[in-house]
Amino acid sequence: MEVMTDVIRVDPVTPDPAALSRAAECLRRGGLVAFPTETVYGLGVHALDRAAVQRLFDAKGRPANDPLIVHVDAVESMQALVANLPTAARQLAARFWPGPLTIVLPRSPRVPDAVTAGLNTVAIRVPAHPVARALLTAAGIPVAAPSANLFSRPSPTRASHVLDDLDGRIDLVVDGGATHVGVESTVLDLSGEVPTILRPGAVSIEMLRDILPRVERRASHAPSPGAMKSPGLLERHYSPRAPLTVYDGSDGVARLARDACASMAGGQRLGIMAADEDREALSDVVRHGPRATIVYLGSERDLATVASRLYAAIRELDASGVDRILVRGFPGDDGLAVAIRDRLSRASVRSHG
Ligand code: TXA
Ligand code: MG
Repeated sequence: MEVMTDVIRVDPVTPDPAALSRAAECLRRGGLVAFPTETVYGLGVHALDRAAVQRLFDAKGRPANDPLIVHVDAVESMQALVANLPTAARQLAARFWPGPLTIVLPRSPRVPDAVTAGLNTVAIRVPAHPVARALLTAAGIPVAAPSANLFSRPSPTRASHVLDDLDGRIDLVVDGGATHVGVESTVLDLSGEVPTILRPGAVSIEMLRDILPRVERRASHAPSPGAMKSPGLLERHYSPRAPLTVYDGSDGVARLARDACASMAGGQRLGIMAADEDREALSDVVRHGPRATIVYLGSERDLATVASRLYAAIRELDASGVDRILVRGFPGDDGLAVAIRDRLSRASVRSHG
C-alpha cells in the first residue's frame, strides 16, 4: 500500500525535541520510522506491536524467518525483554553501550514471535547516535529496527538511500545526515555455551575477549534450516545489481588494474572501489577514459573512513549502471577490517538462476 513518506531533517548532534517527539509519537502509534544510528539507518517500529511489526516486514520485503534487533535507550529497558540478564551482558553493556554491539539473549515471552522469527532468543542494542538515543527516550518503547533498506539492497548510510528504497512504503524518515561507522553492528550471541560473534562489526573479537575470554567467531556461513541463527545468511543480503569482484592479496590492485583494462577493451563499463594509495596503480585504467568510474574510499590505513563510505559507493556505482564492480581488498585484523571483508564477500556472492 502506497503511503506518503514524510522527511524531517534534524541536527545530528542536537536534534530538535519537537521534531523527535513527532517521530516518537508515530512510532508509539505503530508507524514505520527510519532514523540514523551510528552504524546505518534503521527502520524502526514499536517492537511489542505485532501488526506494526508485520507491516515492517512487508515494507522491506524481508522474509519472516530473519529476526530483528530491538533497540532500547538504556540497559535497564532491556530487562523486560530478556529471560534474565547475565553478568557478562551487564559488563558488555557497561563497556560498549551505547555503541555498535548487539547482544543476543534468551527472550522474555513479551517479545512477539514476529520480532524474533520464532527463535527463543532476542537481539538487543543501545545505539550511540544522538538522534537514535533521543528518539528512543522520547518514544519510551522498545523499537525493533532492521537496516532501512529493501531486502537484498546494501544498508543505507544516508537518508537519501532510505528514500531510494522505501519512499512511499514507510511513514517517516528522520534525516540526521550521514552515519559515521557505516557497517552494521557486531552481533554477539550470548545464549549458548560459547559466546559467538554471528556478524563482525566495529566492536572486534579482541575488544570482546577482555570480558569474554572464550568468545569465538561463527564458524560457517552455511545456511541453517528454519529461522536464521546468523545475520545476513541469505547470500544476496548485501549485494548490488552489478556483479562485484574483490581483489585480495598483495598483488590485488595490480590484478584489478589488468582485469579492468581487459574488460574495458571488451566494451564493458566498470565501477572500481579503490584506496587512496592506488592512484598510481590505476593510471592505465584512467587512460581508458570514461568506461571506468573510480571511487576512492580513503587510505587503506584509515579503515574507519573506508567503512563509512563503503555502502554509499556500492549504491552509487550500482545506480550508475556499470556492468561490473571491481573492489580492492582491505587487509588487517581489527574489527573494521574483518567487517569490511565480510560485507564485501557477501556483496560478491551472486545467486545463480
Ligand atoms: O547496526 C545495526 O545492527 C543496524 C542498526 C539499524 O541498528 N541494524 C541491522 O539490522 O543491521 P538487520 O536486521 O539488518 O540485521 C540484524 C541481524 C539480522 O540479520 C538477524 O539475523 C540478526 O541480526 N539477529 C536478530 N535477532 C537475532 C537472534 N535472536 N539471534 C540471532 N541473530 C539475530
Ligand atoms: Mg540489514
